[in-house]
Amino acid sequence: MNTKNMLYPHVHPLKPVSYGPDFPIIVRGEGIYIQDTQGKVYLDAISGLWNVSLGYGNPKINEAIINQLDKIAYVNPIQHSNPTTVKFAEQLLNVVPDNIVNVIYTCTGSESTELAIKIARKYNQLKSRPHKNKIATLDLSYHGTYYGSMSISGVDREVSSEYGPNLSGMIFLPTPVKRYPNQANSDSIDEIKEELHNIFNQDGGNIAAVIIEPVLGSGGSIPLTVEYVQLIKKFCRQHDILLVIDEVATGFGRTGKLFGFEHYNIEPDVLCLSKGINNGYLPLGATLISSKIYETFISHNTQIEHLSTQNGNPLACAAGITSLEIINNDKLLKHVTNIGEYLRNEIFNTLQSHKNFSETRGKGLMLGIELVKNKKTYQCLSYQQISELVNKFTQKGLIVYPFFNQPRTTGIHLFPPFILTYEEANKIVKIIKKVFDNTIY
Ligand SMILES: Cc1ncc(COP(=O)(O)O)c(C=O)c1O
Repeated sequence: MNTKNMLYPHVHPLKPVSYGPDFPIIVRGEGIYIQDTQGKVYLDAISGLWNVSLGYGNPKINEAIINQLDKIAYVNPIQHSNPTTVKFAEQLLNVVPDNIVNVIYTCTGSESTELAIKIARKYNQLKSRPHKNKIATLDLSYHGTYYGSMSISGVDREVSSEYGPNLSGMIFLPTPVKRYPNQANSDSIDEIKEELHNIFNQDGGNIAAVIIEPVLGSGGSIPLTVEYVQLIKKFCRQHDILLVIDEVATGFGRTGKLFGFEHYNIEPDVLCLSKGINNGYLPLGATLISSKIYETFISHNTQIEHLSTQNGNPLACAAGITSLEIINNDKLLKHVTNIGEYLRNEIFNTLQSHKNFSETRGKGLMLGIELVKNKKTYQCLSYQQISELVNKFTQKGLIVYPFFNQPRTTGIHLFPPFILTYEEANKIVKIIKKVFDNTIY
């Protein structure tokens, strides 16, 4: 019997394997818009998967890829080097703090965080303290789907347990999400502080790294407070723990600064990058390390055991060079801050009296709209309700993305491209109003 599914011959990520037939099939993209096979046009308010920050079909990035393609499409990264790959690494080092001194290429965000775990553990082995191998991460964090990155993803603990055993030695720290008096898991900031104190006092000597997202993406676009980040910084200093910043979602201008950590007066030991690194046109990521780590590896004359065939691919790096040249621009970053603020305010004003609206949050063009079933109990919406809502937006020609972290927080994200105009922002708000005028749960 032939069981091949030739209608949908590949499995869609994060969907049941049988899923497919009701997907829009996207064939074109220009600016902030995408178009399906039926000719229907959608405003892509999530920039692909949060990565196409400068929009589709950017002529400068297209040209950079084509120019590189005319020279060479691939260079063996072990035995050879290539000027484009080297140039992009130099360019990255020029835009990060002085203590960050080297770049290791990856292909994805999952690989970048995976590598951060490997580096943190080997660093401590080289320091003759192999017991210092635990990784602390936030309980609403997301860092990817490889074994290491999945093991440190707070939001995916239930799902990832189905593939167990995961990596051992993970510690989940409380995320300072807005809590409500009636919520079962309600914690005040003082309780969170106390919990952090207890964890670090008890286990600080065994923790190799703390990894944080400056604004938790999949958690629900939750910006960390300065107070919380400063506390983490203090514990890292106290216990000689590496501070790893996962900038996969927040990096390259998304929060209105080139990197999200710039909002917090901190110096990362490791930076994990991907997504907007090259406008998402080709797979690329990077893990950047500080001089403290670099010098330790040098003094032991040892390598960082990591390779994937496509790491540092010159086509992907050519796109990276041009993307960074465009993004590293104060005027554009200011636009991201201002229009992000405008959009958050407009959405708040539009939805504030809606039964299911809780709050808008985020930074820059990283927006979360938290939705609840009941404003008094702050009970989350169900998975079906959130999915239905996302489908309604799709039907109205607006692409949004769900977050579903029951029982803590549910809602939808907007991550619009940075080229969004105020007219287009108003269009987004209009569609949001239309959908919510006809939807009450
Ligand atoms: C903060 C963060 N880290 C890591 C990842 C994983 O990146 P990738 O999907 O490229 O593997 C993501 C993806 O959404 C992310 O948001």
